[in-house]
Amino acid sequence: MNFSLSSKAITATKTDCLVIAVPEKGEWPETTKAADEALGGLIKQLEKAGDLTGKNASVNTLPLVDQPWQRVVVVGTGKDSDRTPANFRKALIAMMGALKDGPSKSALICLADTSLQGEDAVSSEEARLNLIGRILEDQLYTFTEFKSEKPAARKLKKVVVQASGSAKALKDAFNQGLATGRGMNYTKDLGNTPPNICHPVWLAEQAKNMAKEYDCIKTEVLDEKQMEKLGMNTILAVGKGSKQPPRLIVMEYRGGKAKDKPYVLVGKGITFDTGGISLKPGEGMDEMKYDMGGSASVFGTMKVLAETKPKINVVAVIAAAENMPDGGASRPGDIVTTLSGMTVEILNTDAEGRLVLCDALTYVKKFDPEAVVDMATLTGACIIALGNQATGLLSNNDELAHELLAAGERTGDRAWRLPLWDEYQSQLDSNFADMANIGGRPAGTITAACFLSRFAKDYRWAHLDIAGTAWNSGKAKGATGRPVPLLVDYLMTHAG
Ligand code: BES
Ligand code: MN
Ligand code: ZN
Repeated sequence: MNFSLSSKAITATKTDCLVIAVPEKGEWPETTKAADEALGGLIKQLEKAGDLTGKNASVNTLPLVDQPWQRVVVVGTGKDSDRTPANFRKALIAMMGALKDGPSKSALICLADTSLQGEDAVSSEEARLNLIGRILEDQLYTFTEFKSEKPAARKLKKVVVQASGSAKALKDAFNQGLATGRGMNYTKDLGNTPPNICHPVWLAEQAKNMAKEYDCIKTEVLDEKQMEKLGMNTILAVGKGSKQPPRLIVMEYRGGKAKDKPYVLVGKGITFDTGGISLKPGEGMDEMKYDMGGSASVFGTMKVLAETKPKINVVAVIAAAENMPDGGASRPGDIVTTLSGMTVEILNTDAEGRLVLCDALTYVKKFDPEAVVDMATLTGACIIALGNQATGLLSNNDELAHELLAAGERTGDRAWRLPLWDEYQSQLDSNFADMANIGGRPAGTITAACFLSRFAKDYRWAHLDIAGTAWNSGKAKGATGRPVPLLVDYLMTHAG
């Protein structure tokens, strides 16, 4: 697909399909007025006749003859007072639904001059172009690698997005959005890849490929022997019930000054979670291939950085293992000594995410981080608490938490903070070791984060529980690409 920006008059771009916005009441955007004029007042007429209601996210495709365009897609953008960024995103997604499998080979999208509620005037067009770029890539995603019969190729080959001018800030915003969408799609690809292919060594290969493809990325992989030497016994304890050995994957992007402390991203990379000896029930277990969703979002974010090259240092650490129940597997009751020296009684082998993450959180101290953010499909309890809308956020630092929440609001990739009060810590008491790896049913997301917090005392740290947001179940089963938009936005606000 070819994407570009244009600021020429809309009639000067030769295209099959024009995409315009019609609000419900209120003044029309300039591009809609221009289109209506070029079409001899057709849009106004259809609005008067009641064919175009402007209801948010309604889409009408108008076939045309003897006109500058073969068709016009009219997107309803609702009332001015209701046009929140969330509603505008809905309208964009509906528009893409009409465009992506339609007959047009090319399209000119005139939606960046529709103003939204609560925007600040200076950066608003940039924000909208960023969003349009991201949604273009995100909505055109398909995953057909394992289908023998590939669907027919899309007719749509070229999309031009109309902007008010040719300023560099506008182009940068649009390109940043496109890159974010591609990062999400990479995250989806990794998540959707079946677990017989996507295992820890395969994930490590992907990281090595990133280093080959991008000069600005360096990759280092620790194998089980190196981890044993260091004392990363909890990652090893999770991996030892599987034929696929665990890996610790480190990717470094250094775009900032040598002395700038790095932002560290840590991803849970359980390439399949059977539960281990504390075996999960069979129904829906296939979805546990997405248990590497945290690491997939780290990969996607690193790809965005490699493509857009912001001035910032970022280190990614992925704890990859497969949680299987063979004769070598950890048992409930086993006690292991973590890399930090603290001991853990494994009361439930299905609480494996925190076990691989705790050693990774200790390991990252060596980078002297500015902040550490870990991403993990950590608890089913998070889905019960927040559903599929919000990522669970827990942090030992209020400022960091607020920045991440704000990045989530700006991108629509939202998170919601849960408390990490000391009062919850005692749920992890063990009779035999320094701590247990489970804290009982109450507040399952919080006690999982309490466990992690014990290994993250030396730096500013936040944990994102993405169990509900990293993938969709049901008919639209598949990875979502979240929380790549949140992470990219957060990191960009810290780029020099
Ligand atoms: N990967 C799961 C969490 C999960 C469950 C994510 C369902 C998405 C959907 C995690 O490893 C796990 O099994 N957690 C347990 C923890 C419990 C044993 C304390 C859970 O949530 O049941
Ligand atoms: Mn588990
Ligand atoms: Zn898991």
